[in-house]
Amino acid sequence: MKIAGLISLVMIFVTAAFAQPLYPDYYDKAVVEEAVQQEKNTGASLLRLHFHNCFVNGCDASLVLDSTPHFVNEKFATPNDNSARGFEIIDRIKSEVDQACGGTVVSCTDILAVAARDFVVALGGPSWEVLLERRDATYANITAANVDIPAPSLDLTGLIASFQNQGLDVNDLVAFSGGHTLGFAQCRFFRDRIYNDTNIDTEFQRQLQTICPLDRGDANLHSLDPTPAFLDTEHFRNILAKRALLHSDQALLGSPETDGVVAAYRLSGDAFAKDFAISIMKMGNIKPLTGDQGQIRYNCRRVN
Ligand code: HEM
Ligand SMILES: *[C@@H]1O[C@H](CO)[C@@H](O)[C@H](O)[C@H]1NC(C)=O
Ligand SMILES: *[C@@H]1O[C@H](CO)[C@@H](O)[C@H](O)[C@H]1NC(C)=O
Repeated sequence: MKIAGLISLVMIFVTAAFAQPLYPDYYDKAVVEEAVQQEKNTGASLLRLHFHNCFVNGCDASLVLDSTPHFVNEKFATPNDNSARGFEIIDRIKSEVDQACGGTVVSCTDILAVAARDFVVALGGPSWEVLLERRDATYANITAANVDIPAPSLDLTGLIASFQNQGLDVNDLVAFSGGHTLGFAQCRFFRDRIYNDTNIDTEFQRQLQTICPLDRGDANLHSLDPTPAFLDTEHFRNILAKRALLHSDQALLGSPETDGVVAAYRLSGDAFAKDFAISIMKMGNIKPLTGDQGQIRYNCRRVN
């Protein structure tokens, strides 16, 4: 397999994604701006897809399958429904890669892993080696997606258990929460935090309550940290200042198991970047399908 070719191809795609909006036909300025913002946010969305892919039965691209009479797709699971984004981008990268390779030799799950890495690099984050040749699943399991993808309502004990279930430890959890230095969350995922939590900065709380009222605005967005297009350490500064947007992120402060790591990442972007890369490589190796298990899909949305 031409691995170097695949990687540079995805890299070219990533660069192009930053240069041109996906929807050039719209005339409405607001719509264009939204599209541009979504486009800039593609890296965040794809990193999250890689995570939601790997946490459910291993990195097997079950997440990107559409429903069939035999199973309901994982896209409808609570953590994904109207929330996980970037599926069209994966379709586009897949067809470009297949074209460049003169056939279907790269799995959808490898494409998810490489795309997440290349976008993270483009957003100022570290690089890491993506081991290729994982294969794609032939079924999806929405129940497993609901159980295995951690919810933002979890406290530290629940988060640790969820990561342990995947063979990841508490240090992986803290490093990985740094995924939230990118991207946005919808009001419905942080409403409980800004109305019920006490470990929250009051000025931050007031400001967010105007964006996310009690009785409406479920889909209103706020960035997960002040710099949603940069993989930096602002997320950890936020946690220390009780300004994390998600309950589950703030839950990383207040325990001897995590406090030191949060403080260390706040002080050293290098330490964070190094650990983030190690944890994401570990995640990429969760229960891969290899050899003659699974298949290499022609179309990421359908079993061959
Ligand atoms: C530790 C448990 C985690 C919980 C409870 C959690 C929960 C969430 C929630 C609720 C959102 C907002 C989704 C929306 O409003 O539509 C979100 C967004 C996001 N998450 Fe996580 N997450 C976790 C771990 C991770 C990890 C490990 C990564 C990647 C390494 C990650 C990457 C992201 C990114 C990049 C976004 C922004 C997506 C976008 O803007 O499209 N998360 N997460
Ligand atoms: C789907 O996942 C659930 C929860 O993990 C599990 O109990 C069930 O056996 C899985 N179904 C299949 C067909 O693997
Ligand atoms: C706050 O907590 C109470 C009690 O658990 C719950 O009924 C209520 O829905 C929560 N409020 C928000 C905004 O989530």
